[in-house]
Amino acid sequence: MKNSYGLGEILSNIISLVYTKVFYKGARFIRRPIYVRGKRYLTYGKGFSTGYGCRLEMFDTGKGSLEKILIGENCKIGDYVHIAAGEKVTIGSNCLLASKIFITDISHGNYTDFDMNSTPDIAPDQRPLQTSKVSIGKNVWIGENVTILPGVNIGDGVVIGANAVVNKNIPANSIAVGCPAKVVKIFNKDENKWMKL
Ligand SMILES: CC(C)(COP(=O)(O)OP(=O)(O)OC[C@H]1O[C@@H](n2cnc3c(N)ncnc32)[C@H](O)[C@@H]1OP(=O)(O)O)[C@@H](O)C(=O)NCCC(=O)NCCS
Repeated sequence: MKNSYGLGEILSNIISLVYTKVFYKGARFIRRPIYVRGKRYLTYGKGFSTGYGCRLEMFDTGKGSLEKILIGENCKIGDYVHIAAGEKVTIGSNCLLASKIFITDISHGNYTDFDMNSTPDIAPDQRPLQTSKVSIGKNVWIGENVTILPGVNIGDGVVIGANAVVNKNIPANSIAVGCPAKVVKIFNKDENKWMKL
């Protein structure tokens, strides 16, 4: 695909390229602005690239290792992608994330078990942080506007359709769409094609 940038875009890309070389060694292209909180908890493989306005937030909640966001090799994430990790968010190699995607392993409060600190009269930001790891396999394509919630595992080779909200695990080599996301197609290796369920 041929890109034809205007002069303003070319200048902005040159600044971003220099910024990438200085602050994100091994990455391919980090577009500015980028908002990163807790950068020491971030690891990424070579070839990493980001669109405009991405926000990567890593918090040491005392849970899990100190690697909070782990991104494999050759991953490309689009504009305004927001990833917030308190325990661990892993993204495998060769993943393509479109724009305006939100991925988090954090919730404010516990709404499953009894918890007197998560009642409606407690301010949400005072409720105890809950975390549950998120893992995304390799060769995954995530469409525009998708949200991936805490505790979700997405297998290798998955496609998540635009606007999906993923709150359950998605098996490898499948296509999942909707809110909540459900599998609609599986790749059949014998016939070498995607089959509708
Ligand atoms: C997920 C996607 C790849 C599916 O493509 P496909 O397999 O050719 O789609 P199909 O038309 O065969 O859809 C299969 C079923 O899923 C439904 N569906 C497809 N995409 C959907 C979506 N994003 N949300 C809700 N339902 C969707 C279809 O209506 C169809 O349902 P039906 O069987 O009840 O009619 C595509 O629809 C999509 O969302 N692409 C993302 C585009 C994008 O974000 N691009 C950014 C560029 S990086």
